Amino acid sequence: MKEKELRLLCKRILSKERYHHTLRVVALAKVLALRYGADVKKAKIAAYLHDVGYFIGRSKKDRSLSHAKLSESYAIKMGITDSEVLEAIRVHTTGERGMGLLAKVIYVADSTEAGRTYPGVELIRRESRRNLDRACLMIIHRTREHLRTKKKRLSRKTVQFEKELKKRLQEVH
Ligand SMILES: [Fe+2]
Ligand SMILES: [Fe+2]
Repeated sequence: MKEKELRLLCKRILSKERYHHTLRVVALAKVLALRYGADVKKAKIAAYLHDVGYFIGRSKKDRSLSHAKLSESYAIKMGITDSEVLEAIRVHTTGERGMGLLAKVIYVADSTEAGRTYPGVELIRRESRRNLDRACLMIIHRTREHLRTKKKRLSRKTVQFEKELKKRLQEVH
């Protein structure tokens, strides 16, 4: 699928706000992919499709699934078979142990695109230019604090992802 077609698809099915968020995620995913040597084309496809699950396939059966999973199902229906792209879409909200570079690029791009204004986002943006793993950790930390105010906790997957990142960073330094 050509980029123009992906953009038009997003424009058609996403809300205006979500569409613009998506375009900003695409732009940042491209920058991060170039910086860290991920496949730019794949990063763009994953970025375009990462949130489409908010707006499609909301059947009764689907309601228990997260929008990330629904987005992945939609991408599969569109004929996307690349496992890195599908993984990046599937894990973009929680993260996951063992996730690859492309998935981290989308995870960070989604949380730090230019429209995000939460306290501390600028520090995470700066770190994302130096060390992608550390930027992921900062995002998890921020998510934990944010959830705490809503009396919620991080998902198990995110906690496992955090553990893995910490281990990785210790090994490197
Ligand atoms: Fe999302
Ligand atoms: Fe998003």
